[in-house]
Amino acid sequence: MGRHQVEVTINGKVYQEEVDSRMLLTDFIRDVCGLTGTHVGCEHGVCGACTVNVNGAAMRGCLMFAVQADGQEIKTVEGLTENGKLTDLQKNFIECHGLQCGFCTAGILMSTEDYLEKNPNPSTKEIKEMFSGHLCRCTGYEGIVKAIEKTIENKKTAISSSNSKGE
Ligand code: FES
Ligand code: FES
Repeated sequence: MGRHQVEVTINGKVYQEEVDSRMLLTDFIRDVCGLTGTHVGCEHGVCGACTVNVNGAAMRGCLMFAVQADGQEIKTVEGLTENGKLTDLQKNFIECHGLQCGFCTAGILMSTEDYLEKNPNPSTKEIKEMFSGHLCRCTGYEGIVKAIEKTIENKKTAISSSNSKGE
């Protein structure tokens, strides 16, 4: 098994490390970079717990090798906060009981953030389809849907109030 030098930018910080050719990106993020917010469940691309954002798209970290991330820009759940403050999506997960043990939460947040950026006004059915690739053993999923819908509503309210101020 070979060793390779990689340079990966995670949440704006550059990590230069030598890794085994078969090291998974999730292991690199957690064990080498110490960013343990990204979780590892199935390691087969099924549960979604390991989801991170790679170059602007939500991806399964367990389906990539660290060497494939060489030169790439990655965002993990630690990079979601804005100036140390939780995003509206994160706050709504707390308020709407969108998490219990939290094992699945980082992955769902990363998928949702990416999805809402590209699809700002999805229906409930579309929201459910979006995170159907994520397994949660605790919440029954209803709180997660409510949290996402509340985030969409808050964004709409903020846009309409800034539009009316600009009139
Ligand atoms: S750990 Fe990657 S999808 Fe389950
Ligand atoms: S909150 Fe426990 S697995 Fe989802």
